[in-house]
Amino acid sequence: MPQEGESFKVTPWKVEGKVDYDRLIEIFGTSRIDDPLRERLRKVLGNDLHPLLSRGIYYSHRDLPWILDQYEKGNPFFLYTGRGPSGDVHLSHLIPFEFCAYLQRKLDVDLWIQITDDEKFLFKRDLSLEDATKLGMENLLDLLAPGFDPRRVHILFDTVSIRTLYPLALEVARRVTYSTARAVFGFSAENNIGSIFYTALQSVPAFLPSRKEGRAVPCLIPCGIDQDPHFRITRDVAEPLGFPKPALVHNLLVPSLLGNGKMSSSSDATEGAIYLKDSPEDVQRKISHGFTGGRATVEEQRRLGATPEVCSVWALWRSRFAEKESEFAEITQDCRSGALMCGECKARLIPRVQKFLEEHQTRREGVRAWVSQTIVDAH
Ligand code: TRP
Repeated sequence: MPQEGESFKVTPWKVEGKVDYDRLIEIFGTSRIDDPLRERLRKVLGNDLHPLLSRGIYYSHRDLPWILDQYEKGNPFFLYTGRGPSGDVHLSHLIPFEFCAYLQRKLDVDLWIQITDDEKFLFKRDLSLEDATKLGMENLLDLLAPGFDPRRVHILFDTVSIRTLYPLALEVARRVTYSTARAVFGFSAENNIGSIFYTALQSVPAFLPSRKEGRAVPCLIPCGIDQDPHFRITRDVAEPLGFPKPALVHNLLVPSLLGNGKMSSSSDATEGAIYLKDSPEDVQRKISHGFTGGRATVEEQRRLGATPEVCSVWALWRSRFAEKESEFAEITQDCRSGALMCGECKARLIPRVQKFLEEHQTRREGVRAWVSQTIVDAH
């Protein structure tokens, strides 16, 4: 099991303690997205790099330069990301989807989305399969709201698309031993046998377009760093099965507004995250109570400044609410210097988030008409 003896733990199903993201790069064996790579991305994507890249939220990768080489040689990749529907969608769940929408807009690439209602049913004792499936359908509207090209979106909804998924899942499963799964995920004798098999399904979308087209189609997977363990398995089985290894870009997990772990919809702490369904009053309350990097008194903060890196409110500015780089730099600097008080910073952020959610609701309704058309095997 990874991170033995560390003060934090990150698996696809649980994040505990205060995550040291630099250390995680070493433990998982991924590569950092550094300045030279960001420069290369600017050449391909244009100078106005997405804030998720320029502000280091996408901070780690596997084989990203190879994807760019392939693209430049005229062998475009496809995008693959997904979501396990365990509850309503909140702001940090949207990150990989916003990022994919941006890449699709810039590079005109296909996107495969996997909705893993089976996974959440297997891993969450209190969730019925019927509810997981219903949540998956509802979640899809939120996840597609960032704006995609409907002709280039393909949805694999596990319990619906299983006819397409199953043959490749079997091929993957035959090549993964129990001892590998146990070492990668930390399974014990108490885990149900479905949860041990599940990872095979999460590999499939990375291979499906290559199988369909009968040639090696490169795959790029934007995901939270917590999903990396699955894709280590995917990458290990890829070449033996005759597919290219998928490349990955990993985002940081957005901290909870309560100041502990990642924003999670699974914990009962709904106050720790901003849901896309939240009312303006919810936003007002949650941000007002949000954990910050401020000092005990105003006087102290004016004198010593605050610490943006630990602040859940600053993390929101960083992820999408500071629109321009200049505004983000100004907020960060004024926080650190003591010029900006936490109350003032929160008061400035609240209307931005309220407006974003209002606009999101409109975009979400616009998706309803086409979403079911893009679910594989649904018709
Ligand atoms: N396991 C992911 C979750 O719990 C869902 C998922 C499936 C996924 N395929 C993916 C996430 C690919 C990122 C990339 O949310």
